Amino acid sequence: MANILLDPRQRPDAIVGDFTHSDPVRTFTLDDVAFTYGGRFKQRYFTKRGDDYFPLPAQWDVAKKKWLPYHVEAGTDWWVPYYGATNFDRPTGPTCDGCHSVNYDVHTKQVTEWNVGCEKCHGPGSAHVAHATKANIVNPGALDFVRANDVCIQCHSQGRPLQNPIEGKYFDWPVGFTAGDRLADYWQLEETKPGATNFFQYADLTSHKNRMQGNDFVQSNMYHRQIRCFDCHEVHSSAVSNLPVSGNALCLGCHTKQNPAGLRGTVSEHTHHAADSTGSQCTACHMPRIEQTIKDNYVAAHTFRFITPVETKMFGIPNPCTSCHKDKSNDWAREELAKWATTSPWRVAR
Ligand code: HEC
Ligand code: HEC
Ligand code: HEC
Ligand code: HEC
Ligand code: HEC
Ligand code: HEC
Ligand code: HEC
Repeated sequence: MANILLDPRQRPDAIVGDFTHSDPVRTFTLDDVAFTYGGRFKQRYFTKRGDDYFPLPAQWDVAKKKWLPYHVEAGTDWWVPYYGATNFDRPTGPTCDGCHSVNYDVHTKQVTEWNVGCEKCHGPGSAHVAHATKANIVNPGALDFVRANDVCIQCHSQGRPLQNPIEGKYFDWPVGFTAGDRLADYWQLEETKPGATNFFQYADLTSHKNRMQGNDFVQSNMYHRQIRCFDCHEVHSSAVSNLPVSGNALCLGCHTKQNPAGLRGTVSEHTHHAADSTGSQCTACHMPRIEQTIKDNYVAAHTFRFITPVETKMFGIPNPCTSCHKDKSNDWAREELAKWATTSPWRVAR
């Protein structure tokens, strides 16, 4: 969880975009860049005007290694109507910085740190640094499951502050929240509209864009059973997706016969694919990569629901079977699923 926001003059290695070859999409040079965000999926660049930062009009697609325009279009983010039309009418303070820094002060526009730093998850730490006790720091691991997950959902969600505008500005992050609080006292998750497909959601309420792991996860039985994001993610690590183990081992750590949710039999019996097949990866069917982060790059859904071929036909939500078996039809997948004795046709094939 590092490399969130960096000054290229201090950390030239933070730049992943190609500034050496000219490109019609990139209309600025490295000299215009005061800060960068990101580097895993995409990198965006900011310039300073007065005491605010503004996004420059191109972003780097990390996977495809190319420049794409960057401009938040009308009809996408909810806040667009409250700002002017160009990037330079949209300061990052209200629209971004609360989630990409620690202690962004809405008045002074100063931060303690440009990063996902300790205090964002552990609360104010100066008393703890002076004299460390368990009582003067928030340990997310010791919070109830709502507050524990809220530590992550404060940034990993789409929503709106309960009170907006705040001093005349429309904020896209939960102003005033600190780790240990209940996020619902500050923030409402983006309203869901069953049946609608839009910028934020598919018709079954699976999220449609990145940074919505919280909106997804609260829908899952795992959340209901008090599982926390950090039961799966080791956030202090720098492993890809901060996963402590790779592949099915993570899920099988809990999904034993003792878990009421199963698995009751072997992996292969559950998945109807050979155990070592890509078609037996838990994430392939329960965490499909269908949430857009940039152009044709997607992050994993966190509802953990299996999306059926019938939902694809009815609502256009991609299902795992035909996303992988690209040469097959939804009817083929539905008929195959109808034969599975391990799952109910009423749920997955109708
Ligand atoms: C993205 C959120 C996040 C950030 C940033 C973060 N932590 Fe943590 N930290 C956690 C979570 C969640 C736990 C609880 C893990 C668990 O119980 O499985 C934790 C646990 C800990 C613990 C163990 C507490 C105990 O008593 O068991 C220490 C120590 C700690 N963090 C220190 C730090 C320091 C120092 C930093 C900054 C360098 C930091 N953390 C940054 C989320 C974070
Ligand atoms: C509510 C919190 C929040 C707000 C507001 C927010 N972000 Fe993010 N952003 C995140 C989180 C969390 C992620 C990582 C998770 C994901 O992308 O699914 C992320 C990811 C990113 C990434 C990709 C990081 C990478 O390594 O690929 C970039 C770039 C980025 N944000 C830029 C912005 C910009 C620019 C704005 C303002 C226009 C903004 N963000 C507003 C929380 C936020
Ligand atoms: C201050 C906002 C913030 C908080 C709080 C936060 N995150 Fe993040 N998280 C981000 C951003 C921004 C990124 C994108 C990182 C990057 O650009 O390298 C990210 C990335 C991640 C990633 C992907 C890491 C990778 O490089 O593959 C995971 C997993 C993650 N966060 C889980 C969590 C969990 C679990 C918690 C709660 C314990 C949490 N985050 C709390 C903002 C936040
Ligand atoms: C820390 C333990 C734990 C881990 C790790 C875990 N699960 Fe779960 N899972 C549970 C519990 C508990 C339930 C709920 C059981 C119940 O309903 O009583 C559950 C339920 C589920 C369900 C039922 C549907 C729903 O709404 O949640 C699915 C599907 C699921 N898990 C998939 C996964 C996948 C895929 C992974 C790996 C990425 C995983 N689980 C990892 C504990 C875990
Ligand atoms: C090829 C697709 C596929 C793969 C791979 C897959 N599942 Fe499932 N899983 C399903 C379907 C279909 C259902 C039934 C969904 C429903 O009824 O809504 C299901 C249901 C579940 C449930 C809910 C309870 C139950 O047993 O029906 C759990 C828990 C679960 N899967 C865990 C896992 C774990 C853990 C893995 C990895 C070892 C995994 N799944 C891999 C397709 C898959
Ligand atoms: C049951 C386990 C589990 C839980 C709970 C869970 N995640 Fe994940 N998460 C994963 C796995 C597995 C991946 C990697 C998926 C892949 O690579 O296909 C992942 C990926 C991510 C990523 C990287 C983006 C991507 O999709 O590649 C972020 C960010 C993230 N999770 C945040 C969160 C947050 C925030 C929460 C809680 C609101 C959460 N996760 C809860 C298992 C989990
Ligand atoms: C991530 C990729 C992936 C996913 C998701 C997946 N499969 Fe497969 N499937 C495979 C592969 C690879 C094979 C080849 C044999 C093997 O490895 O088991 C296969 C083989 C099959 C076969 C037997 C051979 C054939 O083509 O007739 C059937 C039937 C099948 N899959 C049905 C499904 C259904 C139904 C789903 C959704 C529940 C599904 N698959 C999801 C990768 C996938």
